[in-house]
Amino acid sequence: MKVLVAYFSQTGNTKFMAEKIAEGVSQVAECDLMDIRDVDVRQIRTYDLIGVGGPAIGAEADIVKRFVYSIPLVGGQMAFLFNTHGSLPRRYFPEAIRRMKDREFNVIGWMGFYASVGIQCFPSPYYTDGHPDDQDIADAIQFGKDMVDRAERVANGAVELIPEVPPLEPPKPYSLPHTAKGNEDAVGIHGDRHYDPSKCLYPKCHICMDNCPEGFIDHSKGEFGSHGTICKTNECCLCEQLCPTGAIYIPDDEIQFGLNFLKEHHDFFEATLAQEEAEGKFRRLVPVDQVGWDTPQIMRRDNGELPKVKPLRINKPNKTFKPSEK
Ligand SMILES: Cc1cc2nc3c(=O)[nH]c(=O)nc-3n(C[C@H](O)[C@H](O)[C@H](O)COP(=O)(O)O)c2cc1C
Repeated sequence: MKVLVAYFSQTGNTKFMAEKIAEGVSQVAECDLMDIRDVDVRQIRTYDLIGVGGPAIGAEADIVKRFVYSIPLVGGQMAFLFNTHGSLPRRYFPEAIRRMKDREFNVIGWMGFYASVGIQCFPSPYYTDGHPDDQDIADAIQFGKDMVDRAERVANGAVELIPEVPPLEPPKPYSLPHTAKGNEDAVGIHGDRHYDPSKCLYPKCHICMDNCPEGFIDHSKGEFGSHGTICKTNECCLCEQLCPTGAIYIPDDEIQFGLNFLKEHHDFFEATLAQEEAEGKFRRLVPVDQVGWDTPQIMRRDNGELPKVKPLRINKPNKTFKPSEK
């Protein structure tokens, strides 16, 4: 059996777990492991099974959605999904499985993994820090092996092994300001990215251009952002996290807004994780009273140095993924 494990990873967690899943797959099958931006979607049919993974950003990151939409219809090819997340991934699989089914994939399994969260305004330490731990790693290796085993059995007719597609999630009990209908101009909970050309080192530095998952930055053409001169898309914040001079920044009032919003809703995170812990699905490595609400991650750099707070494992600069023609 020939398997492709394809992933997108912004801060390195999903890449790490994709490697572990691929390790498990490789014990029982032939396996290619690739960043989705390096996958030629026309080659996907040459695999017996593909795995697609990414971080939970609500559901999948936009770049993962675009990758899936760009795959030519596959006529029942088998696939599995995985993600890493920071405790609220509930929309991910219900939506991602349906998107894969739209491309005619037969989705035979999925698995989510707790992981740390590196983003503005979130408390540091955060509830899920310390994950993925050794148990998560062992689970990922086993998951890779299990998916191959299941794919072989399904191919031999054991369709009853395919789990039922989970129902779509009802909306969260609170409404995020930026997602409220008709409220596109509102600031996101992690703030919006602004750009100050006077601080930018381009063309000497182009780390933001090389890493923008959406391809929204091209300083050679004076282009920055999803909405005119600011960026709201996906709230990925990656450019702001990487910029060594503070040329890409989230204004203080927007950071404070995000912080207040999250603090106000901390009981929601706690209730969710307490339930997962009670059900044996979450191993708590940071005691709840040590979660750093008073020491939030404020990742601001203006000293010309690369990030120190939670260093990102930066994706290699490679071509920005381009959706194929329909
Ligand atoms: C912009 C952004 C939004 C996120 N939104 C969610 C979310 O809705 N639910 C969740 O459980 N985790 C969320 N997270 C946490 C990530 O899913 C988690 O840190 C993941 O492991 C990151 O994977 P990566 O390191 O491969 O990029 C978010 C992280 C970022 C950067």
